[in-house]
Amino acid sequence: MSKKLLLTYDHIDNLQQIEVYKKHEGYSVLENTLKCNSPEDVVVEVKKSGLRGRGGAGFPTGLKWSFLAKPEGVPRHLVCNADESEPGTFKDRYLMERNPHLLIEGMILSSYALGANTSYIYVRGEYYYIIKILETAIEEAYKAGYLGKNINNSGYDLDLFVQPGGGAYICGEETALLESLEGKRGNPRIKPPFPAVAGAWGRPTVVNNVETIAAVVPIMKIGGDAYANIGLGKSTGTKLISASGHINKPGVYEIEMGITVEEFIYSDAYCGGIRNGKKLKAVVAGGSSVPILPAHLILTTAKGEKRLMTYESLADGGFESGTMLGSGGFIVMDEDTSVVKNLFTFARFYHHESCGQCSPCREGTAWMEKILHRFINGTAELKDIELLWDIQKNIEGKTICPLGDAAAWPVASAIRHFRSEFEAYVNNPASINKVKHYYRLNNLVY
Ligand SMILES: Cc1cc2nc3c(=O)[nH]c(=O)nc-3n(C[C@H](O)[C@H](O)[C@H](O)COP(=O)(O)O)c2cc1C
Ligand code: SF4
Repeated sequence: MSKKLLLTYDHIDNLQQIEVYKKHEGYSVLENTLKCNSPEDVVVEVKKSGLRGRGGAGFPTGLKWSFLAKPEGVPRHLVCNADESEPGTFKDRYLMERNPHLLIEGMILSSYALGANTSYIYVRGEYYYIIKILETAIEEAYKAGYLGKNINNSGYDLDLFVQPGGGAYICGEETALLESLEGKRGNPRIKPPFPAVAGAWGRPTVVNNVETIAAVVPIMKIGGDAYANIGLGKSTGTKLISASGHINKPGVYEIEMGITVEEFIYSDAYCGGIRNGKKLKAVVAGGSSVPILPAHLILTTAKGEKRLMTYESLADGGFESGTMLGSGGFIVMDEDTSVVKNLFTFARFYHHESCGQCSPCREGTAWMEKILHRFINGTAELKDIELLWDIQKNIEGKTICPLGDAAAWPVASAIRHFRSEFEAYVNNPASINKVKHYYRLNNLVY
């Protein structure tokens, strides 16, 4: 059974209420840290822990924090990225809904470490009920003296605000998020300057994911070294995985990094195996933007080793035979699933969500959607496979933000691993109606 550091008290009723949270060690780590540790101590522990950002890219959190510019007299900010709009990813919602005070305690600890006196939680606008839960919890924290002036007589002040998101996937990209936070349209910024130098309102800013910030609480509780001993290699600690698709037990699981993918899919402690005794066909391991892998490559690497739930093992083989842990959105597809039809749904999503600033992304996502539509309505030709390949190659690495890559990688991996399915749809269009995941397209005009 996995160690639990974030969902330890998940089974407790009314954990959202501050009295209940406090009965279960709530705010004790903050009280102790403010009494015994300097802000620099917190940064040191986070560095020692090896914590990597849980928003998708897996960048070391302590290192990111150490890039924060600290010019005299200029305020700096911590912004929590709770936009969570990646298809297949719903772990942050779960954490905020069940245990909002854990995120708030993490926000206070992290803001203290960074010397921020005004911090923000930018929450996906569609998570309206979570915005309410967070606002209530923040009010409770102010009343209890954990927010506001002179927190717990430490001399440290912090104001925390919740900002509803703009309702677009792109608002989760950190610079688009900052634009949106400032009240503008959520268009990504060209970097540099990076947020650590000029972020929210031009001030030095750290943007971190919900799970990353919540993890600072257990790190300060057990110490960075002890946290680094949990997990495997450079994938330290635990990770929340939102599992969906054709599995017996969809849901959010906290895993210790390093368990096998096989255990995660088939054991009763996690997904409980494939629904209706079907065979596994494919997995999208880290949210819709990572390469899709067929069953044999998600269970074992190309070298024949058991694939593990770690950043390194999932990426083993690069984009030829590997994938990414990404945001932890684990989508499982059974043997009856059409990869091409699912790909079309993803492509439609990315086309819809492109902000339109870069031509390769704006035009390329539109073309990929159109061509994939030809495959699933039986009008594609074999040369369309090469055309799709060319288009995704012309998007990858040629855009302001990684949304372009996110749109390209699923297409590239599907062609790489499931080319025969594309060919079958061209050679035998009647086979299309025999597979699952057919989305009615009557409302779309081509
Ligand atoms: C299109 C797009 C959407 C993103 N959405 C999210 C999101 O919803 N939540 C998140 O934490 N990071 C998201 N990211 C990644 C953020 O840009 C950023 O890397 C992350 O918030 C950093 O936090 P971390 O260091 O704690 O992982 C997104 C990136 C892109 C390109
Ligand atoms: S890659 Fe796409 S979403 Fe990102 S800035 Fe360019 S057009 Fe906008």
